[in-house]
Amino acid sequence: MTPDEVLTTTRSVRKRLDFDRPVPREVIEECLEIAVQAPSGSNRQTWSFLVLTDPEPKKIVADAYRKGFQTYATQIVPHLPAFAADDPRTHQAAAVTESAIYLAQRMHEVPAMVIPCIEGKLDRAPLAEAAAQWGTIAPAVWSFMLALRSRGLGSSWTTVHLLHEREVSQALGIPEGISQAALIPLAYTKGTDFKPAGRIPARQLTSWNRWSQR
Ligand SMILES: Cc1cc2nc3c(=O)[nH]c(=O)nc-3n(C[C@H](O)[C@H](O)[C@H](O)COP(=O)(O)O)c2cc1C
Repeated sequence: MTPDEVLTTTRSVRKRLDFDRPVPREVIEECLEIAVQAPSGSNRQTWSFLVLTDPEPKKIVADAYRKGFQTYATQIVPHLPAFAADDPRTHQAAAVTESAIYLAQRMHEVPAMVIPCIEGKLDRAPLAEAAAQWGTIAPAVWSFMLALRSRGLGSSWTTVHLLHEREVSQALGIPEGISQAALIPLAYTKGTDFKPAGRIPARQLTSWNRWSQR
């Protein structure tokens, strides 16, 4: 795959995760070494990664994920604004929902999960500080997901377990001053023929030299 193919076909994989194929530890280690080549605010590299492969910690996180998913589905989704009929997100919504429910139900079966973490607390940080923290962890995690894809694995950036971040941190021994940023379930994929997704073209979202409303 060319770099552009990897960049445009790294989807959120849920229904095509192969729960039965083990993922060697070295593959995860290799992808994490690639991840830490990402840029970081002030070159502080304040990231860390918790990899879960044992059934017990995976179950703790999967249970928190399911609880968070239930809250998200019943209390948050109903208040999200609808998109226009011709918006690609409208056409994708049913498939995303079905796939997300599938992952929530089977989260404990993934061969491995990675919880990317960042130093500091993100919930009350001022914008510039929050931007530095998120801007440090996000490129590293995306690099990790791209590296997985180029090795025949799939993953999905997920966040709903963070509705129960405290209890997960306590159960897994994550210290007070460290924030969990996401949960990345991963596995080899069933087939590797993923496609670019429908998107609003970037040119419709881009202004040059002065902001222009869409
Ligand atoms: C910040 C963020 C949070 C997300 N949280 C979840 C999640 O909790 N559960 C889930 O199944 N997918 C989650 N996703 C994946 C999105 O649903 C997915 O990126 C989107 O539907 C577009 O699909 P694609 O990634 O295959 O292009 C999240 C993605 C991002 C970037």
